[in-house]
Amino acid sequence: MIGLFDSGLGGLSVVRHVRSLLPLHDLIYLADSAFCPYGPLPREQVTLRALGCADWLIAQGAQVIVIACNTASAAAAEILRARLNVPVVAMEPGLKPAIEVTRTGHVGVLATSGTLRGERFANLVERFADGVEVHRVECPALVELVETGELSGPRATALVAAHVVPLIAADVDTLVLGCTHFPALRTLIAEAAPQAMIIDTGPAVATQVARVACSVVLEPGSGTLRCATTGDPATVAPGVANIWGSELPIEQATW
Ligand code: DGL
Repeated sequence: MIGLFDSGLGGLSVVRHVRSLLPLHDLIYLADSAFCPYGPLPREQVTLRALGCADWLIAQGAQVIVIACNTASAAAAEILRARLNVPVVAMEPGLKPAIEVTRTGHVGVLATSGTLRGERFANLVERFADGVEVHRVECPALVELVETGELSGPRATALVAAHVVPLIAADVDTLVLGCTHFPALRTLIAEAAPQAMIIDTGPAVATQVARVACSVVLEPGSGTLRCATTGDPATVAPGVANIWGSELPIEQATW
């Protein structure tokens, strides 16, 4: 079984890509909704939450852990790799591909403060920016939209535009979805920035998960998907249904 977690519902965007590459593997997804959002939390707290989520998933039988969250990856990927006895797949904003494709020399990264202010992101910029200007935009309001399943409508459209339009005015031609919540708003983002190239690392992460699953000889199962939350399953359910496109049974996770 492959275990994936995020602060909330954003990681379902990664689950979707993993599911389409590995349709017969059994997946378990944990949304740490009781502690969402991770973006503004201190690094130490995100690390503790990430360790708790991973331990819970392993106790359920996960043999590979996927940190389906940029913020938790930035805070805790190394610690999880050092402490866990199973492989850990982490993620980071797709800055490198964005820098390769920009023609204007301006790329925008939509992410949380935890990701954008972290050491890992500073290292990415230092290694790859190469004269390209990186515009960082912290978007807690967009995380909130996705958590409540508000993926369309006038309020969501206006909020997305408020984050994206100033970037286009600053000559940005490439937008990095540096938070796993934002693929759920991709349509609105593309409407607000019709000319921009949008980069989502979800497919690349899924490819890496497939590689790791092969390397640990993880046999396909029957393609089940379990979904759990540390919050209230009834509160989370409508958001899950909107993001996933159909209702999923949601278990209560506690530790
Ligand atoms: N989905 C998360 C990420 O990729 C974090 C959102 C949040 O909890 O602030 O960074």
